[in-house]
Amino acid sequence: MSGSNLLVVLTGSIAAAKACDVISRLVQRGHRVRCVATEAALRFVGPATLEGLTGAVPMAEMFAAGAALEHIELTRWADAVLVCPATANTINHLAAGLADDLPGALFLAHDRAKPWLIAPAMNPAMWAHPATRTAVERLRSWGVRFLPVAEGRTACGEVGEGRLAEPPVIVAAVEAAVARPARRLRVLITSGGTAEPIDGVRVLTNTSTGATGALLAEHFVRCGHDVTLLRARSAERPDVACREETFFTFADLDAALARRLAAEPFDAVIHAAAVSDYGVELVDAAGRVQPAGAGKLDTDAPPLLRLRSHPKLLDTLRARAIAPLRVVAFKLTCGAPGTEASAAVRAIFARSHADAVVHNDLTARGPAEGDFPASLHLPGGVVRACATRGELAIALEAWLVAEPPLAPEPIENRESKIENPHASLS
Ligand SMILES: Cc1cc2nc3c(=O)[nH]c(=O)nc-3n(C[C@H](O)[C@H](O)[C@H](O)COP(=O)(O)O)c2cc1C
Repeated sequence: MSGSNLLVVLTGSIAAAKACDVISRLVQRGHRVRCVATEAALRFVGPATLEGLTGAVPMAEMFAAGAALEHIELTRWADAVLVCPATANTINHLAAGLADDLPGALFLAHDRAKPWLIAPAMNPAMWAHPATRTAVERLRSWGVRFLPVAEGRTACGEVGEGRLAEPPVIVAAVEAAVARPARRLRVLITSGGTAEPIDGVRVLTNTSTGATGALLAEHFVRCGHDVTLLRARSAERPDVACREETFFTFADLDAALARRLAAEPFDAVIHAAAVSDYGVELVDAAGRVQPAGAGKLDTDAPPLLRLRSHPKLLDTLRARAIAPLRVVAFKLTCGAPGTEASAAVRAIFARSHADAVVHNDLTARGPAEGDFPASLHLPGGVVRACATRGELAIALEAWLVAEPPLAPEPIENRESKIENPHASLS
């Protein structure tokens, strides 16, 4: 990526030292960084550190001699602004639209077509306070993008949400905000395994880790696409900020897909989730039959489970969408010979009308993180061999961006779909 002009605003948090790591990484990645620091921020990091990292003297005062109009010049210069770390004070200040200091004046003067990102850092009580919550919502409604806060022990010894996100997450979010893909796609990714309740505490599930879904989300966000991730509760979280919703059971994922696809015109769904083919219908505990998901079984004799088949969510995606959609399916085999694997992929193209199918075989998975070979099957019999999850992400993104947008469907077709989005489930 050729470098961007980035303005980093530091405010008075103990995490200001961590922000120096962020600045250093941005500079090393070829971006031109300039800093603004509040008076409180300069109690935590010295101006010499910021000058040393960026090669430019940090701005701190609105009325500095010779730099009185700097806030206008800086907002014109910057491709994106990052407030990092952002204190509760500054977040509330910005939400109130006050311009009595340099960050406030910059915020009001900045061109709102350009990204303004905020990486909050504060103690959990400050983050949870209604004043801060209201300010965050207000700023979001004005288009400000918030990075997720991390959970854990804060400097004040309290445990909870409010820690500054890790530097690689912040760098990825900034680069995603300034990335300009040839075509910005709206992508919905499903990830991780569903769980099927037996009783109130036990589930049937699978071994999906959600690593592929997380990596795909990271890659698409970094390329500048708009990503929504439907992630199993237990699945790996991506190292980037994107819209996320978690699911637990098949029914949760089914409902989330129906809602999301009916609300937003996605360009593609990458359906990487491992969805259980069966759910538990009835549990027979020593002759006492009860519905799944109720109470807690407490018999010594193992219960008998009656399972029911789930519909294939993959087959329902297009009918639920309000816009024409490219569908990417996943097929996992376990030690299948080549001919069997090809037949399985062909069956998905035929049955589900997927536009692309990713095939991997469990026995090919390597010991290293990301080391999971896959073949990407595209229309016209084209197959791309990908040695790692990373290569798969690159190949998928390149293919989806290169494909021309799908023409809108005739209104009459669309209306009949919207009327009954669950048609294929009934
Ligand atoms: C040691 C120390 C650490 C602090 N850390 C934070 C913090 O992480 N987040 C926060 O919102 N405020 C923190 N504060 C309080 C802010 O520095 C204070 O509200 C200040 O007025 C913020 O000014 P600014 O937003 O203009 O930088 C801390 C204060 C001290 C003394």
